[in-house]
Amino acid sequence: MRHDPMHPTTLDLFADADLEQQPRREQIGEQSYVLRGFALPWFDRLLPALHAVLAAAPFRQMMTPGGFTMSVALSSCGTLGWTTDRSGYRYTRHDPQTGRPWPAMPEVFFELAQAAAREAGFSDFVPDSCLINRYVAGAKMSLHQDKDEGSYAAPIVSVSLGLPAMFLFGGFERSDKSQRIPLLHGDIVVWGGVDRLRYHGVLPIKDGVHPRLGEQRINFTFRTAG
Ligand code: SIN
Ligand code: FE2
Repeated sequence: MRHDPMHPTTLDLFADADLEQQPRREQIGEQSYVLRGFALPWFDRLLPALHAVLAAAPFRQMMTPGGFTMSVALSSCGTLGWTTDRSGYRYTRHDPQTGRPWPAMPEVFFELAQAAAREAGFSDFVPDSCLINRYVAGAKMSLHQDKDEGSYAAPIVSVSLGLPAMFLFGGFERSDKSQRIPLLHGDIVVWGGVDRLRYHGVLPIKDGVHPRLGEQRINFTFRTAG
C-alpha cells in the first residue's frame, strides 16, 4: 500500500491503532482478570531464560502427599520453590533433586509478573517464587487452592505458553461451579485480594503441536511465598 505519512488514509489509521492496541483485559472475578496476549511481546526474552532455569533445575514429576504421581512435571525458580512429596506440600529454598538453591528468578520473569499484576490492579507485587508447570497431552491439574504461602496479601500471576488449555476458575468451595476459561499462548490470569483463595485447575490438555513450544503447555505461576 502507498504510504504517505503526511496524508494517512483511513486504512493506515486503523492499521496503526491495531498495532498499538493494548492487550484485552477480561474480568473474571471481583479482583481477577485474564490479560489476553499479555506475554506475547515478552516471549522471545522468556524462552532463553526458561532454558537456563531448566538446565539447572530440570522438570521432574512429583508425588502428592496422597501417593499419586502428578501428571504435570514441575520446576521452580526464585528464592522459594514449591515442592510436594509423601510428607506434604511446601516451599523450599533448595531443589530437593539437586540439593542446590533453586535457580534465581530471571529478571525478565520478574518484570513480566510485575507488569501483569499492575495491569490487574496489584501495583506492588514482589514475587519470590515461580513454579514452572509442564503439561503434555493428557496432563491436568485438579481443582485446588494456592494456600501454602506465608500470606495471601499478594496475588497469583499465572502465565500460559504453548498449547491451549481449558482453565477452571471456581469459587471458595471445591464444589462451587467453575467458569471454563480457554487460555492461549501468551494469556495471563491474575487473581488476588478477595479472590486470592479461589479454587482453580486445568482440564486435560489436548494433543497438538505449538509452533514455538511443540507438544506441550508451559505455565509459570508467580507468587509471594515467603
Ligand atoms: C497452577 O494452579 O499451579 C497451574 C495453573 C495453570 O497451569 O494454568
Ligand atoms: Fe494453583
